Amino acid sequence: MKKRFILAIDTSCDDTSAAVTKGTIVHSNIIASQTQLHKQYGGVFPTVAKQAHKENIEKVVQEALTRARVTWKHIAAIAVTQGPGLAPALEVGITSAKSLAAQHHLPLIPVNHIEGHALSPLAERLPRRKQQKPTTIMTPALCLVISGGHSEFTQVTTIGEYQRLGWTVDDAAGEVLDKVGRMLNLGYPAGPVIEKFAKYGDHKTFTFPLPMTSSGNYNLSFSGLKTAARNMIEKLEIEEKLDRQTIYNFCASFQFAVFRAICYKLEKILIGAQLETEFKEVWLGGGVAANLELRRMIRETLRPYNLKLRVPYTKRLCMDNAAMIGVVGGFKLDQEVTLPALDKIERQPRLALG
Ligand code: KG4
Ligand code: ZN
Repeated sequence: MKKRFILAIDTSCDDTSAAVTKGTIVHSNIIASQTQLHKQYGGVFPTVAKQAHKENIEKVVQEALTRARVTWKHIAAIAVTQGPGLAPALEVGITSAKSLAAQHHLPLIPVNHIEGHALSPLAERLPRRKQQKPTTIMTPALCLVISGGHSEFTQVTTIGEYQRLGWTVDDAAGEVLDKVGRMLNLGYPAGPVIEKFAKYGDHKTFTFPLPMTSSGNYNLSFSGLKTAARNMIEKLEIEEKLDRQTIYNFCASFQFAVFRAICYKLEKILIGAQLETEFKEVWLGGGVAANLELRRMIRETLRPYNLKLRVPYTKRLCMDNAAMIGVVGGFKLDQEVTLPALDKIERQPRLALG
């Protein structure tokens, strides 16, 4: 089937994004970040996010079309994030997508944001040569979405058919990195700063517990690690031992503890899966997937199972972005999924995958 251009929009949290994709190929991926706006709150402030999305959305859509060198007449459909996410933020993207769909007489494809992160490792650059071989998609795959809002393991039986195997019962991995980073005054978001500082530190300096070892399931939990971190930081502050090198060591140790908890459950899934599902590949998406140490630790866990890790081709595809939404939209278009009428498409802030 001939692939068609999709204009995709994501306003699930604090980034206003629009992209043009064709199948899995990304022709443009524009992201207007609100990080600077939210820094003062140490997290995302929903009404501020909504206002900024409203101010940015038209510009971002126009820029996505311009960068991709297409006009509306080339676009076959619009894809938009329906959820999960912040309700007021989702609302802006959906309202704008609906009005563009009506104006240009285009079908509107509602997309699950987590499915976007899950399939983001399948996105491809615009090929330099026309005859570049398309990527072969290997399923069943095991997918890890590790971001500020989600930390979950999903079985991708085939594209569009998902089974959630495990998820976090409290904070997401990115969220806990951000919260502990805040205790250390590392700014927002702290995940990338912790990765940088960890490189100068020794992860064996501070010992954290390994959570959920007797849970009997594949779920994660990070709140115990957060409490342990808070207690240690308070003690270090009282003892006036929180110098630069100690902060580096703390970042290395805490990051290691979070990633070890993820790899522990990953291994449990792989051991269990050998009896039932033979995974062909492991995919990693979400903001925390940008972390090179997480990728290294996951690859090390996968080595005995001869499994390849597929990650997004650029960090821009790890963070919230519309290209991943376009990729999902492309699959839905190919599979000729029945689309709801425009007036039936509404935000779903608590939408889950599988
Ligand atoms: O996917 P994303 O942009 O938004 C959500 O859907 O949550 O993820 C943002 C999260 C933040 O918690 C941020 O600290 C984390 O991803 N993050 C990182 C890195 N880059 C972003 N965490 C660790 N290492 C990084 N390099
Ligand atoms: Zn996200």
